[in-house]
Amino acid sequence: MDFRLTEEQVAVRDAAKDFAQNMCKPGVIERDTNQQVPIEQLKQLGELGFMGMMVDPKYGGSGMDTISYVLAMEEISKIDASVSVAMSVNNSLVCWGLEQFGTEEQKQKYLIDLATGNKIGAFCLSEPEAGSDATSQRTTAIDKGDHYLLNGTKNWITSGSTASTYIVIAQTDVDKGHKGINAFIIERGMEGFIVGAKEDKLGIRGSDTHTLLFNDVKVPKENRIGEDGFGFKFAMKTLAGGRIGIAAQALGIASGAYEIALAYSKERETFGKPICEHQMIQFKLSKMALDIEAARMLVLKAAWHKDEHMDYNTSGAMAKLLASQVAMETTVEAVQIHGGYGFVKEYHVERLMRDAKITQIYEGTSEIQNIVIARSILND
Ligand code: CAA
Repeated sequence: MDFRLTEEQVAVRDAAKDFAQNMCKPGVIERDTNQQVPIEQLKQLGELGFMGMMVDPKYGGSGMDTISYVLAMEEISKIDASVSVAMSVNNSLVCWGLEQFGTEEQKQKYLIDLATGNKIGAFCLSEPEAGSDATSQRTTAIDKGDHYLLNGTKNWITSGSTASTYIVIAQTDVDKGHKGINAFIIERGMEGFIVGAKEDKLGIRGSDTHTLLFNDVKVPKENRIGEDGFGFKFAMKTLAGGRIGIAAQALGIASGAYEIALAYSKERETFGKPICEHQMIQFKLSKMALDIEAARMLVLKAAWHKDEHMDYNTSGAMAKLLASQVAMETTVEAVQIHGGYGFVKEYHVERLMRDAKITQIYEGTSEIQNIVIARSILND
């Protein structure tokens, strides 16, 4: 077993680190305070080739592996998880799903613009009554011959107002349960498609999270992804990979907070010495480092499984479950190490603590990851 990264993977990680430090760090506190979408940063990510990292170059992507993707996600999430969530959704949920299951026509029409970052994608599964219970879709797409008629509401949609291309999951035949669900490509501007209210959130406040409304939207037949009834499996397969990206985001939030706390502990003095020389602080730093390394191993293993075309459903769920828990615990400790300073915006750790929470909720709550893991153990 070789734990060393390739030269290319190191180069990607370094490029992501430079981008995060130079392009994301300036203004990150203001964007968080003002809920300002990092449009410029997303444009630059496209120019770097980071919006379609794993997509084949013939469709405008960078043709990189999943390990490079998680390394980049970690570095960017250390600084600004509002940037990395849009990057993750675009790469894992939208581009990957289209490349794997879209028709050649769909790839030419939508994937190239998404992979190059010319357009941003959103993935629309959650509904007021269908979050964890993803089969309970209420949004309907009724077959009208040459088109589907789409009606319903989607909630908590990442990049809701900045996206131009939306993958929308809808029920086409209620009697068929999950086999009556389909995935459709919806374009911004289609008649009857309304971008609704923006959420005022605890964390990832730079990311625009919206309710979307569909009122008699005519969706061309050729915009359905895959065979009739493939939508639920499409969503599950796509989310299985998406969870690796969010695990990497959680890892980045944790390691970002740890690095800030470590540096602070060497500068801040109490009782006549730097606080890192106090054993209680050393215990905290040691646990943070250990937890982060364990999470990193799971994230890299899940990414490797995906690159090797092995099953990554369980390893992705494990990575997300552990990394998001580590993100939460590490950021709380990072605030604690800073004392009163940790509670104010200037030191960044309070924002990372707020950002950490969503990693235990989106793309499947921690409870859902436990279900996925338990099912895999019990079916072995
Ligand atoms: N890959 C392929 N197929 C899968 C699969 C996977 N990972 N998981 C399930 N399936 C298939 C099953 O094999 C089954 O197919 P068959 O009937 O042909 O055997 C079918 O899907 C139904 O599976 P289940 O009976 O297991 O379905 P379930 O209703 O019990 O649900 C669940 C399983 C894991 C709980 C699922 O509902 C789930 O993942 N829920 C969470 C949804 C979620 O992650 N939402 C996040 C929203 S997106 C988001 O957050 C994006 C963002 O903006 C950041």
